Amino acid sequence: MNLPKIASISKKIVVALAGLFLALFLLVHMGINLCLVRPDDGQWFLAASDFMGSNYVVKVFEIVLFAAVFVHIVLNIILYIQNRKARPVRYKRQSKTKTSSTSRLMMLSGILIFLFLILHFFNFFFVKLGWSDGKYMVNMEKVNECALNGEEEVVMAKFADFERGVDWKSHLSKDGKWIYNLTSEEAEPLRGVEKVKADFYHVAADLFTQPLYSIIYLLMFIVLGIHLTHAIPSAFQTLGLNHNKYNGFIKWFTWGYVAVIVLGFSAIPVYFLFFF
Ligand code: HEM
Repeated sequence: MNLPKIASISKKIVVALAGLFLALFLLVHMGINLCLVRPDDGQWFLAASDFMGSNYVVKVFEIVLFAAVFVHIVLNIILYIQNRKARPVRYKRQSKTKTSSTSRLMMLSGILIFLFLILHFFNFFFVKLGWSDGKYMVNMEKVNECALNGEEEVVMAKFADFERGVDWKSHLSKDGKWIYNLTSEEAEPLRGVEKVKADFYHVAADLFTQPLYSIIYLLMFIVLGIHLTHAIPSAFQTLGLNHNKYNGFIKWFTWGYVAVIVLGFSAIPVYFLFFF
């Protein structure tokens, strides 16, 4: 087997492994975000996203996740260009085969998912980094702790500042744990007292109660479903895990996985649009 062939197969294997890792991430991401529809004033979701936001194992996982997204996209673009270059000119014009239309569909849906991710980062991830605006929260228990640890004067002074701008009792979560749904201006005075975190519960509520955003996300979940329907069996094939005995199972497993991901994610905008 010549070197370019080995290189191409190893690239495909890396793409397949990164793809299956992202498919696993989607399952976890969907599961955590589905807590948003629980009618508990965001209690479960905020506890889960606070844990995800402050746990060091998750932070390492996040770096691996971004590396997997990067490798998956870049290697796929390289393979797509190499495949096109490898095809003789006359073949290019006639190529209406199932393989070429699927690879075009995968590239098109991949590009759409990448564009969605950019929008999604502005909606959520960049809020955490302070690069885009959203809603914020402060852990009330931690503020009380600061006051009890001899920082009373500082805390009281900052809190007095805060109170001048906000009727904070109306921003207190039902479990009394968070002062939340704050704009960045409202949260500003408390930055010196306790870590001001992104309040993804109200970021999601503000986002998905807008029909345009809910429709964009719902359409993107369908595109994601189409991408995954082809991606999962093709990853198994690349890894040599496909066999006449298992193909039936792989097909039903893929349909089941895609249904859970698409319906699970879709429940969130539908909940905020019609039931919040
Ligand atoms: C309604 C559906 C969704 C909601 C409510 C949602 C919510 C969120 C939130 C709150 C974050 C920030 C988490 C944090 O950094 O602590 C986030 C980050 C992220 N989301 Fe989503 N997401 C949704 C759908 C998706 C989909 C469909 C994809 C992939 C195609 C995706 C990919 C990501 C990635 C890669 C990150 C950054 C990594 C991370 O911080 O977890 N999300 N999303």
